[in-house]
Amino acid sequence: MKNSNSTFLVFGATGRTGQHFVSIALKEGHKVKALVRNPEKIKIQNINLELIKGSITNYENIDELLDGVDFVICMLGNAQEQNKAPINTIFIKKLIPAMRRQGVKRFLYQAGGLTRRYKERLPFVTWILRNTVARYNGLLGQHKDNETVIEYLVEEAQDVDWIVHRAGIISDGPSKGILKRDRTKFSLATHVDIANYNFQVINDDSAIHTCDLSYYKK
Ligand SMILES: NC(=O)c1ccc[n+]([C@@H]2O[C@H](COP(=O)([O-])OP(=O)(O)OC[C@H]3O[C@@H](n4cnc5c(N)ncnc54)[C@H](OP(=O)(O)O)[C@@H]3O)[C@@H](O)[C@H]2O)c1
Repeated sequence: MKNSNSTFLVFGATGRTGQHFVSIALKEGHKVKALVRNPEKIKIQNINLELIKGSITNYENIDELLDGVDFVICMLGNAQEQNKAPINTIFIKKLIPAMRRQGVKRFLYQAGGLTRRYKERLPFVTWILRNTVARYNGLLGQHKDNETVIEYLVEEAQDVDWIVHRAGIISDGPSKGILKRDRTKFSLATHVDIANYNFQVINDDSAIHTCDLSYYKK
């Protein structure tokens, strides 16, 4: 495997997907560095885990964070803040130039199944869900922020090996199976399956520059 003994820089490591991702990467023998606002949320103690306290909204030393890193993975979300400002986009626009400076190429960004691909419309049923469920739950700002991240990656970061995962998530329950990448179909998956998928897809060259969904194939 290309990423054996690799170092992952994780954003969103204290989140529902991020915590599973950190466990998986450590279990597979990799190193994990994570920028976290609340380190006490992470109960894992592991010599290969380095927690750096900070927020993406004001962190200055991104170049330093990237030292020795092979893969950058972003499972960030703060729906309330994203309704006020595109905090992820602002951060990614600082992160990508820092990745260039530090020679780090591979980047995975987790968006949502109700997030649009750049310059594409959502299928009708998904559009309805976005304008009912997502709107009612105050998630429109999060999807719009994800969309401006995608626009930036498509328009201004073709030199970086980015992958966007438009995840569909229903709960933090046990695994329901193995997710596969799909252009049109998505499943409502559990966080652990989404994290496992992220761990696999970040190493998949055929996923570079895609904004695909994930789906439990029978
Ligand atoms: N949850 C869903 O149902 C769902 C469905 C589809 C797609 N998605 C997409 O996947 C992303 C991640 O989902 P999730 O459910 O795993 O998220 P989550 O549980 O809400 O976790 C979000 C993570 O982002 C971190 N974060 C937020 N603001 C930050 C800041 N300013 N600086 C540093 N870290 C910050 C949080 O840190 P704290 O612990 O400090 O708050 C947490 O670790 C979402 O944003 C969304 O785009 C989610």
